[in-house]
Amino acid sequence: MTLLDGKSLSAEIENSLAKDISTLSHNGITPGLAVILVGNNPASCAYVQMKAKACKRVGIYSLTHEMPSTITEEELLSVIRNLNDNPNIDGILVQLPLPPHIQTAKVLECIDPKKDVDGFHPFNLGRLVANVETFAPATPLGVMRLLSHYEINPSGKDVVMVGMSNIVGKPLSALMLNAGASVSCCHILTRDVGAYTRGADIVCVGVGKPGLIKADMIKTGAVVVDIGINRLESGGIVGDVDFEPVAKKASFITPVPGGVGPMTIAALLQNTCKAALYRLEKKEAR
Ligand code: GUN
Repeated sequence: MTLLDGKSLSAEIENSLAKDISTLSHNGITPGLAVILVGNNPASCAYVQMKAKACKRVGIYSLTHEMPSTITEEELLSVIRNLNDNPNIDGILVQLPLPPHIQTAKVLECIDPKKDVDGFHPFNLGRLVANVETFAPATPLGVMRLLSHYEINPSGKDVVMVGMSNIVGKPLSALMLNAGASVSCCHILTRDVGAYTRGADIVCVGVGKPGLIKADMIKTGAVVVDIGINRLESGGIVGDVDFEPVAKKASFITPVPGGVGPMTIAALLQNTCKAALYRLEKKEAR
């Protein structure tokens, strides 16, 4: 069994990005990322802090707009419109979830698709499904990079995705499909998840339930990608996979922490640099 080590791969990606960013800066462009945080959900606060720190490490200028959960939808839309018009900002990210009185779809659709580094705008999601150049959401993109680094090619493989969120499961299914996999999608209404996962070459799971995937649910030699992040009362962090017994059967498996999590951050940084390159192209075209 080989661990899919997202921690060390993300560090490699950050090093190469830091070099690219320094070149960009010499051309007068410092990539800029605006992160919007509404309310004080502890997990969201922690993710936003991690994203800001990662930007600092590689030389991306980042600013975090922290807003109270009482903000109106219109106020939030107005902040986004200003960022859309701000020439120093290449990427805009609204940390999810948003409070229930705000329509998430409306907020995501307000972001300029060229600055949509999270890839959640329907324009970019549509391009993803159509398999044309786009911003892919960071977690699915990070998973694909991790697999590719370990020369795991999904083409012709049976992939089972467990968990159909808009952020992870749906876009990752699309990326796997684009990569030539046969993809089965399991979700909350799936009666027998094991019936799907037992036949899979690659099992990806992002549900938020510790121990959901047990050893008897995977075949010997399967690749297991754990996208779950669950904080235990003891303070530890685990994924959705019953790690020790599953690792004994798997050929490759992601640890949690240290697997997909750091790859998500690296993919966000890469998307932000890609957005900054659009700015450079526009500048050079003038
Ligand atoms: N909430 C949980 N994951 C994510 C993510 O990748 N991006 C944003 N914007 N919000 C999230």
